Amino acid sequence: MWMKDIKVDLADRSYRVIIGAGVLKETGTSLKEIGFGGRLVVITNPVVRELYGDGLKKSLVAEGFEVDILTVPDGEEYKSLDVAGGLYNELTAIYTERATPILALGGGVIGDLAGFVAATYLRGVPLIQMPTTLLAQVDSSIGGKVAVNHGQLKNKIGAFYQPWLVLSDTSVLKTLPPSEFANGMAEVIKSAVIRDKELFAFVEANIDKIMAQDEAALEEVIFRSAAIKARVVEQDEIDLGLRNILNFGHTVGHAIETVSDFGVGHGQAVAMGMVAAGEIARRKGVFEEEELLRLKGVIKAAGLPVEIPEMDARKLIEAMQHDKKIIGGRVRFVLSRAIGDVFITDEVDLSLVKEVLGG
Ligand SMILES: NC(=O)c1ccc[n+]([C@@H]2O[C@H](COP(=O)([O-])OP(=O)(O)OC[C@H]3O[C@@H](n4cnc5c(N)ncnc54)[C@H](O)[C@@H]3O)[C@@H](O)[C@H]2O)c1
Ligand SMILES: [Zn+2]
Repeated sequence: MWMKDIKVDLADRSYRVIIGAGVLKETGTSLKEIGFGGRLVVITNPVVRELYGDGLKKSLVAEGFEVDILTVPDGEEYKSLDVAGGLYNELTAIYTERATPILALGGGVIGDLAGFVAATYLRGVPLIQMPTTLLAQVDSSIGGKVAVNHGQLKNKIGAFYQPWLVLSDTSVLKTLPPSEFANGMAEVIKSAVIRDKELFAFVEANIDKIMAQDEAALEEVIFRSAAIKARVVEQDEIDLGLRNILNFGHTVGHAIETVSDFGVGHGQAVAMGMVAAGEIARRKGVFEEEELLRLKGVIKAAGLPVEIPEMDARKLIEAMQHDKKIIGGRVRFVLSRAIGDVFITDEVDLSLVKEVLGG
């Protein structure tokens, strides 16, 4: 079996990220290696449960574990305090000891929700992230941000709570809808642009293989993207500064999501946001035209949009000003200096942003 391994080095909160095709089948072994036995609780949704949850349970039971599966409905709207509350009730019936781990099996929604529950139930129980979307494998499962939404407050009720282990089985991505795969590709491209020009070149050269989910190419891409996230988190665990670079493309991206009333998906919005950030950087004279063309080329090849849709630029800017990346009234941008190198700045004239956004 192909497998790769990343260590996230955070003193006594350090953990491994195991990546490869077939990782799921080895869950029991991986858990025993870090000292777990006996009881486990899996939190998932009905879609993922049917595809992978029941099989996982069977294999774990065969290895002597006692496994309960709790399901919550599929969808961002269920990443809520209400649903967390329901899970606390169910956990009360199951828990006999605080050492029982919670396995978050699903995409970023499940990871954030189950992670939030693990962080808060009994003041914290062990958390194992088992991401099943590309976005979750390269981004949300690593770094310890767990959260629920609360009314209009997206991801605002949460904690920093690192998992004990991340198990990323790349073969489960085969069942992802293509739009969800593209979503994750936006974060892959983002990771490459902020920190790894070799990863960018690899994606450029192997985009067809990656989109066809060739095992070796996909594993390489997930491994390198996850490693970038791990290194950034190690340097800025609780988001005091550097971690902001992970928001490349997200300043404009979030605004597009908001103004479109979430009609434009996250990955698509981030794709457009990366093009906008690249264009702003180019017009400021810090980013070469040629590099911008490479950026657009890869985004397009990954099935993502490079044109900002017809939207009121004023509304987009307003949305940016309401976003959390605001310091002292100025919008904070992550701009590219080259592929593999970005910087954070609040020195971007809103008139330039408006121009780039087409109005
Ligand atoms: N904590 C963080 O650092 C962080 C970072 C980025 C995003 N997020 C959060 O992640 C969430 C988005 O995550 P997402 O993009 O994974 O979406 P998601 O969790 O909603 O999953 C997308 C869809 O794919 C389905 N699915 C999951 N795995 C599947 C599989 N293997 N085969 C078939 N279908 C599968 C899900 O049921 C769902 O319908 C958002 O809530 C966002 O706020 C968190
Ligand atoms: Zn994102």
